[in-house]
Amino acid sequence: MSLRTLESLGSLAGKRVVVRCDLNVPLKDGVITDDGRVQASLPTLNALINQGARVVVISHLGRPKGEPDPQYSLEPVAQRLSELLGKPVVFAGDTVGDAAKEAVDGLQDGDVALLENLRFNPGETSKDDAERAEFAGRLAAFGDAFVSDGFGVVHRKQASVYELAQALPSAAGLLIAAELDVLDRLTENPERPYTVVLGGSKVSDKLGVIGHLLPRVDALCIGGGMLFTFLAAQGHKVGASLLEADQIDTVRSYLAKADELGVEIVLPSDVVVAEAFSADAAHEVRPADDIEGSPWGEKGIGLDIGPETAAVFAAKIAGARTVFWNGPMGVFELAPFAAGTKAVAQALTEVDGLAVVGGGDSAAAVRALGFSDEQFGHISTGGGASLEFLEGKALPGLEALGWEPAS
Ligand code: 3PG
Repeated sequence: MSLRTLESLGSLAGKRVVVRCDLNVPLKDGVITDDGRVQASLPTLNALINQGARVVVISHLGRPKGEPDPQYSLEPVAQRLSELLGKPVVFAGDTVGDAAKEAVDGLQDGDVALLENLRFNPGETSKDDAERAEFAGRLAAFGDAFVSDGFGVVHRKQASVYELAQALPSAAGLLIAAELDVLDRLTENPERPYTVVLGGSKVSDKLGVIGHLLPRVDALCIGGGMLFTFLAAQGHKVGASLLEADQIDTVRSYLAKADELGVEIVLPSDVVVAEAFSADAAHEVRPADDIEGSPWGEKGIGLDIGPETAAVFAAKIAGARTVFWNGPMGVFELAPFAAGTKAVAQALTEVDGLAVVGGGDSAAAVRALGFSDEQFGHISTGGGASLEFLEGKALPGLEALGWEPAS
């Protein structure tokens, strides 16, 4: 079976349509710092509005613990959504209570409401199937149809992602369809050479995807906090840099497997080492095999890949016809340690072929560093979701829409 598309739902004019978006945006002091996910939700919402549907938007934000927590309210998102849609968005102060019912009942054709954070309710993320089904049933009461468009959350077996798709006539929205088109191009006969660049802090989060990608790519560049576990696996000392000591043996086995397969794992030859984790800390570039030779010895912290490494990664990217990048190369939020991430982003903008930026942190990084979305082949809205897709895992939110992984 293949993914059910919007058209499969027929005319939605005058119908109440519940739309699961991923509006999980970064907020600082109540202000949205990157509205990429709100922007990405617009094509589906506009398509439904233009058809004259009564649109009920639902989403999570952050990880509240199953009860209301004002810091995770979607209210600022309702305001941004209204600005971007160019029309009012009614915000309901609860998800399935009186406020939500009133908001939904008051919708006219083409109107939009956003309900409060799904994760303020224990049923959304419950491990208990019956509890999730019960909560999905309450959400289903607000709609005649369900459109699932929160790509960033399709790897979660949660009520609004999985059970709700079974409780109403359901289909994928335009964002999920567009994300899958691109991810299919990365998995089904990608144009060669194929380079993957992985960063971010925890190697344990990336082991699955590294293992799955090794036989499928030509080069795998490793940066970010997780590079230090790779250096440690090669026998180097890493000072006070991020290290997952319990993963060293696994990483060593991956290095051996890459050798066997003839796949190049490109590890940093230099790193930026700092006296402390702060923007004004003293820092210097060190060879990757002599991090503790810095003036701060065992206390030095690696916070970015060095310039030589950045140039090597950029060359690997430039020479590829297909590139996937997930995870910052360093602590890009602090200006002295942003150069590695910036160099990789710049190289992706110059790829002659398909260049995909995968997910939350990397997407926020490229925007924060001044790049625009149009400079890349595709910026995925789902970090964890795109990695699990590339890992070949079954994704509950896609299976519920009829999609099956390629065998
Ligand atoms: C994300 O930010 O990756 C998605 O919104 C999913 O959020 P979660 O990891 O809290 O489920």
